[in-house]
Amino acid sequence: MKTTISVIKADIGSLAGHHVVHPDTMAAANKVLAEAKKNGIIIDYYITNVGDDMELIMTHNRGELDTKVHETAWDAFKEATKVAKDLGLYAAGQDLLSDTFSGNLKGMGPGIAEMEIEERPAEPIAIFMADKTEPGAFNYPQYKMFADPFNTAGLVIDPIMHEGYKFEILDVYTGESVTLNAPEEIYDILALIGTPSQYVIRRVYRKADNIIASVTSIERLNLLAGKYVGKDDPVMIVRVQHGFPALGEVLEAFSFPYLVPGWMRGSHYGPLMPVSQRDARATRFDGPPRLIGLGFNIKNGRLVGPSDLFDDPAFDETRRLAEQIADYMRRHGPFMPHRLEPTEMEYTTLPLIQQKLKARFKKEAGVVEAKKSIYEKQVEGGD
Ligand code: F6R
Ligand code: MG
Ligand code: MG
Repeated sequence: MKTTISVIKADIGSLAGHHVVHPDTMAAANKVLAEAKKNGIIIDYYITNVGDDMELIMTHNRGELDTKVHETAWDAFKEATKVAKDLGLYAAGQDLLSDTFSGNLKGMGPGIAEMEIEERPAEPIAIFMADKTEPGAFNYPQYKMFADPFNTAGLVIDPIMHEGYKFEILDVYTGESVTLNAPEEIYDILALIGTPSQYVIRRVYRKADNIIASVTSIERLNLLAGKYVGKDDPVMIVRVQHGFPALGEVLEAFSFPYLVPGWMRGSHYGPLMPVSQRDARATRFDGPPRLIGLGFNIKNGRLVGPSDLFDDPAFDETRRLAEQIADYMRRHGPFMPHRLEPTEMEYTTLPLIQQKLKARFKKEAGVVEAKKSIYEKQVEGGD
């Protein structure tokens, strides 16, 4: 019997701004999931939050994209939304129903990461959940975990891991994916995933036996009709130990607070700060982008745990460096590269300002009009 782990998340409204999920909304979701557990739809569940995102971690035997499981999650979010509305929470129902305008176009749905596995005798996993960033934010750590021997000693030492991993990479603009092998094709992998706004590592498989190692949420909900309508704060499930990276190798990948897009108004680069569950609240400049990690063991679908993985002084220096980077980035104010490039900004209101000023632009004599932008030339291979 196979076990499926489903992590489904949504922002259904939060307390005091896009800041933190209210416990009463989690209680409402809990009621729905408890009922689904009683009725045998799911085996087990755990509800948590990072910042303004409610995270439903569920286990069952129904495989990926199961209607009943997804309906359960949807009902949980809807019940939670009712409470959010009763309490007058901010942006209530944001990712489900259009109710309160929050600068994003409405109609976005929940983010989903699911993995169907044959449980090993002991099945340790880590689940990572971030707020104020997007799925490509997990490219860097997945590369570190599964392809960088300076991060993961097992790639050199463990005979199964030594064979390498396969990266399934999705182009979120075209919906096409490609599978590339590490270590043979790491330069090709990096050529793609170094542009995380376009190429997202969706799944990683162990090459020795084609067994799934990690999965991330990649929903293209933030890209609709060529328009950017919001960040999809991502989640990731990673299997650890015994032929997969050790838990400590997986966590090591987050020891450097690398820059991710998101943060204030989904429009700024900032350091990804790994924090404990207790500190999973967006504060300074609506961030800095936060990451939590929970460790579980799965036994016949039962979720044993969790352990709060970043609730540890071993990550104090990472957090301190993140704060220093936050200071440095903030001093740029509205200037790029703190502010994102226009195409990546969550708020699509900047063109309105350009439009407003258009009539005031005057042609400069002697300045040649460019036929194409530099980027377009690059895509076509130059001229
Ligand atoms: C970013 C985010 C927040 C909001 C910001 C303004 O993804 O959720 O940084 O963009 O707080 O929110 P509104 O426009 O709702 O006042
Ligand atoms: Mg939000
Ligand atoms: Mg969020």
